[in-house]
Amino acid sequence: MVVNTQVELLNDAFNIFKDASRKLEGQYAKLENKIEELNEELAEKNRAMERNRRLAAMGEMAAKIAHEIRNPLGSMSLIASILERELETDGAKKRLAERITKGVKTLDNILTNMLLFANSPGSRLQKTNLTEVIEDSLLLARGHDKEGVDVIIEFEGNTLIMGDEAQLRQMFINLFLNAFDAIGEVGTLSVRTRVNGSSNSVEVEVKDTGSGIDQEHIDRIFDPFFSTKDRGTGLGLSIVSNVINSHKGYIDVASVRNAGTTFLIGLPIQAEKEYRI
Ligand SMILES: Nc1ncnc2c1ncn2[C@@H]1O[C@H](COP(=O)(O)OP(=O)(O)OP(=O)(O)O)[C@@H](O)[C@H]1O
Ligand SMILES: [Mg+2]
Repeated sequence: MVVNTQVELLNDAFNIFKDASRKLEGQYAKLENKIEELNEELAEKNRAMERNRRLAAMGEMAAKIAHEIRNPLGSMSLIASILERELETDGAKKRLAERITKGVKTLDNILTNMLLFANSPGSRLQKTNLTEVIEDSLLLARGHDKEGVDVIIEFEGNTLIMGDEAQLRQMFINLFLNAFDAIGEVGTLSVRTRVNGSSNSVEVEVKDTGSGIDQEHIDRIFDPFFSTKDRGTGLGLSIVSNVINSHKGYIDVASVRNAGTTFLIGLPIQAEKEYRI
């Protein structure tokens, strides 16, 4: 009898032990899975860190290369403009020189966008007249438009703002180049300014009669590297959006396929007394 009770007790103890060890095994398997998950997470974080480190290094390298390329480009541009003047009477050769100028402008524009993207420099806001910036930008974008393209500019009211001239120039160049690309052979680019009293901003409307933007693309056009062009970097409009942000301005886009696109930009006017230091 005593022996039987002892066996029963032993059996119970054994069952409890089996149960406990089964539970422990289950917990152990769960722990193992968790450790595996954590290891994977860590490896992914390490990979992301490495990617970011490489991107930062590439950004620095791109900025250095861009500066190095700038100098010879400057000389090429100067020489091409001298050639253009000297070849005034020889139409065919002059056109070749013009192609060099156009190529140099394109390269220079890519470099400026790359530098603005890689460095994201702060803005140095100074009293800036938008009429001058817009006219300069148009001159720089010219050469990319075809003969059948009309350009209309209308300045209305105050065009003085506090702005970073170099950044604003690059912003307008990007918008004008996009418009010329979208227009192709024949069409109109119109640029109009007006004052919006309620937002205390100068508004600039950049309107083209070009190809328009597909509805499915419109939410992505300001994303860096989004491009529908064979040879586009997709940096143009992301720079535009950065410049708008650093000026605390706003931008709106409306587009109709095969009819054209309108960008509306608002840049805050500072009260006159804030100009004076
Ligand atoms: N005025 C416009 N008309 C039609 N589509 C436009 C216009 N502006 C921008 N887009 C569309 O938005 C995309 C992104 O423009 P973004 O300027 O950022 O890059 P990109 O012009 O393609 O390349 P990059 O500016 O480097 O030459 C363009 O590829 C084009 O599809
Ligand atoms: Mg562009």
